[in-house]
Amino acid sequence: MAIKILTNLMHKVLDDRYILREVIFPYFIPKNEFSRILFVGCKWYTRNYNTQFQQKDYWTLDVDQRQRKHGAKQHITDTLENIDQHFAENSLDLIVCNGVFGWGLDEREDVEKAFRKCYQCLRAEGVFILGWNDIAKRRPFPLEECQALNLFDKYKFPPLSTSEYLTKTFNRHKYYFYVKR
Ligand SMILES: C[S@@+](CC[C@H](N)C(=O)[O-])C[C@H]1O[C@@H](n2cnc3c(N)ncnc32)[C@H](O)[C@@H]1O
Repeated sequence: MAIKILTNLMHKVLDDRYILREVIFPYFIPKNEFSRILFVGCKWYTRNYNTQFQQKDYWTLDVDQRQRKHGAKQHITDTLENIDQHFAENSLDLIVCNGVFGWGLDEREDVEKAFRKCYQCLRAEGVFILGWNDIAKRRPFPLEECQALNLFDKYKFPPLSTSEYLTKTFNRHKYYFYVKR
């Protein structure tokens, strides 16, 4: 009984990481068409993603220069709003922006700018993954109001059969999937 409760609790905390590491990443890694990848926002617990993506042209970006040590070999210290200063138009295959909206990227104007520029930097059929927490404290404004996201089409992510996935977590971590058509 105690083990079951503990396992349930662990899931409630870790399900978003599990989905990211064991479902989302493994879908893209074997695909040659997803070669140039940007992961936004670094922490000690995202370090092992560097290994997962070691066969790829893998980049990380974080505004906080202290996070450089957790980033990829190809790391950029800057805001996502300035992504276009580091990547040419249509040059990225995949952008994973997880836990950044509502965790520093909060001002509506900045969010619009950042996501619009992500759209620009992705190639046609490139994928944008937005991981965020659907709770008042981490929701700077309703995502449905974001104009820049309307540039994208929703992308039904095959392994989850949906474009909007709610993980089984206390903080209602969601993954939204978009594609540039
Ligand atoms: C919750 S943490 C780590 C998120 C990480 N991607 C993950 O999967 O958990 C959020 C990170 O986003 C960074 N960040 C916040 N606003 C940013 C922005 N506008 N541009 C780039 N990085 C930003 C912060 O410095 C912080 O390291």
